[in-house]
Amino acid sequence: MQLHNFNSGPAILPKEVLDQAAAAIHNFNNTGLSILEIGHRTSHFVAVVEEAKQIVKRFMDIGDEYEVLFLQGGATMQFMQVPMNLLDENGLAAICDNGVWGNKAVKEAKLFGPVEVVSDSSDKKHTYLNKELELPQGTTYLHITTNNTVEGTQWHQYPQVNVPLIGDMSSDIFCRPTDFKKFDLIYAGAQKNMGAAGVTMVVIKKSLLGKVNRKIPAILDYQKHIEAGSLLNTPPVFSIYVSLLTLRWIEKEGGLVEMEKRNQEKATLLYNTIEAHPLFNCPIAKEDRSIMNAVFFLNDASKENEFLDLCKKSGMIGVKGYRTVGGIRVSMYNAMPLSSVQAFCDLMNHFS
Ligand SMILES: Cc1ncc(COP(=O)(O)O)c(C=O)c1O
Repeated sequence: MQLHNFNSGPAILPKEVLDQAAAAIHNFNNTGLSILEIGHRTSHFVAVVEEAKQIVKRFMDIGDEYEVLFLQGGATMQFMQVPMNLLDENGLAAICDNGVWGNKAVKEAKLFGPVEVVSDSSDKKHTYLNKELELPQGTTYLHITTNNTVEGTQWHQYPQVNVPLIGDMSSDIFCRPTDFKKFDLIYAGAQKNMGAAGVTMVVIKKSLLGKVNRKIPAILDYQKHIEAGSLLNTPPVFSIYVSLLTLRWIEKEGGLVEMEKRNQEKATLLYNTIEAHPLFNCPIAKEDRSIMNAVFFLNDASKENEFLDLCKKSGMIGVKGYRTVGGIRVSMYNAMPLSSVQAFCDLMNHFS
């Protein structure tokens, strides 16, 4: 039976990326050594980091005013590393709390300085994005989660603000052309659109740094990582290599323009299928629906388990909603082919 991988992350990767990664475990670039065995300061690995950085800079159309870093600790570490480097008692972090991940960013930032939640959608169970933002006087930066993986909302137009903008793009990085220059800091765990778990990309405008009055441990200090070119300590070499392979794949397939075309097509097909049947219900405001993670419910909740059982029997993997949300969540990252979304929609039509 063919499997269709709708996991929310770690998630589907292109088959050729998996094949290339598997080959490099045995023999990396004809060195006779595994990618797992070579030193991270060898010219072979330094070239991997450099090429990955250059592709990211091309996708983002950014210059040397930004630095691209490959760090560890997941996007979760960025919830604290961002405020540790950028926020102190004299500043104020404005944060959009539109779901599970934004909420964690709020909690962690509070450990480092004053925080104001400037967008909160909990009144409607995070089924929309509250886009009327009012930034308090003295705001140091605004933090948004560009795609709410759990709740299925996505910012399709970013807030226009005159303070540094920080984006957690973990679940929609490189899903479409984006005005990345609007952001002063972008971070993304790699395990959805950009590779394997274990590495987090951080893209940072260098002028943002050096403004807080706090001693920062070296491993958490962006400045130290910049000076060391992402090689401050032993980096997650394999995860970085898989990111490079995934970035190369995106570029080869036609870049972000092509990713957007494919992602729009998949999302349109799925949302149209949901709308076509009274049995299914997507409560997410139409203009805020995510093209990466579609969240929906069965109007007759007693049928949910029956539908999930059928999904399981039909090879549809990872479509059960997040534990606090319930319902169905279908993740359609860059590597997901249209044919898998079509197969899922066929199943919905059949079940309905
Ligand atoms: C938007 C978003 N932010 C942060 C995280 C946490 O990432 P990690 O598990 O890499 O710490 C996730 C994980 O799914 C996410 O989707």
